[in-house]
Amino acid sequence: MKTVTIITSFIVAGILTAFFLGFNPVESTRTLEYDDEQEGLKEQMVIRFSHVAAENTPKGMAARYFAKRIQAKTDNEIQVEIYSNGELYQDQNEWEAVTNGNVEMIAPATTKVSTRFPDWQVLDLPYAFQGYSAVQEAYEGKIGQTLLEDLRGTNVKGLDFWYNGFKQFTNNKLPIHTPADMNKLHFRVMPGPVIKAQFQALNASTSELSFNKTYRNLEVGFVDGQENTISNIYSKKFYKKQAYMTLSNHAYLGYAVIINEDFWDSLSETHQHSLTEAMEETTDWVRRHSIEINDSHIRKIKRSSDMEVDVLTKQEEKKWREAFKPVYLKAEQDISKDLLKELERIQSNYSPQ
Ligand code: SIN
Repeated sequence: MKTVTIITSFIVAGILTAFFLGFNPVESTRTLEYDDEQEGLKEQMVIRFSHVAAENTPKGMAARYFAKRIQAKTDNEIQVEIYSNGELYQDQNEWEAVTNGNVEMIAPATTKVSTRFPDWQVLDLPYAFQGYSAVQEAYEGKIGQTLLEDLRGTNVKGLDFWYNGFKQFTNNKLPIHTPADMNKLHFRVMPGPVIKAQFQALNASTSELSFNKTYRNLEVGFVDGQENTISNIYSKKFYKKQAYMTLSNHAYLGYAVIINEDFWDSLSETHQHSLTEAMEETTDWVRRHSIEINDSHIRKIKRSSDMEVDVLTKQEEKKWREAFKPVYLKAEQDISKDLLKELERIQSNYSPQ
């Protein structure tokens, strides 16, 4: 009897040990104890954010602002590593990098997105937006919403639009006042069907070059000029290689902020919520600060260089608007009617004086 009792006790003890150590379903999902070295690593996620602009620009500063906001909101559970100046990927390969998950976020100029999604051309149309409020209305309204939805099914999610500024022409040969001044000049351009049509309408020749190769190509004289925002002209030192700038404000350059969709889906609802909030706060920040950043850069250019800065008169601007009409005719074939109608509606609210 004694032997039976001892054997039974062993069996019961064995079952209880197995249950608590091996088979207890609660225990199996409980986190393992870890030492100080591992503290905080378990939940930490890293967003690699690649972009081609300099750090002291609206996009560079917005990326930093976003990093700080999301880190604060998630108690450092989400970290952002920023790779600026094309340090990781250039304009040509950042789309593949984000769709393949080699980085989690990018923020290309909307023009570059238009090479894949024709409707995005609407944002590039010359004189599409008469002032900053018109741009905001497009980004925050039906146009922005439609364009972000357009990206679905490509393993990316469009998060928002970030602001930079209106584009200006620079060149090294002559002061540009009228469309006729363009026909002897060779320009560096971003890839984009509307950009191509715009320069064709002006009879100017172009080369598509990556942003970070522009300075060198201006320096060696392969191209005579380029179009860009003042903050890009200043931060990339294009003004040091250009004798003339025309404040033409002929089109707007802003950014599509894009995240890898698998990464987005892997985030908890709480983290998605924090990221969305951080993004909204950053977009608001860059909308409010992009104008002053560009303004401060034109003051710095004027102080530190003898580049001639010309402003278009109202009469001259009319000639440019006239010259750009073929660009709209061509774009009508590519851009959906709904978006063009919405653009017209916005334009009628902000018509030129
Ligand atoms: C950028 O602002 O991201 C670059 C624009 C350009 O390629 O000109």
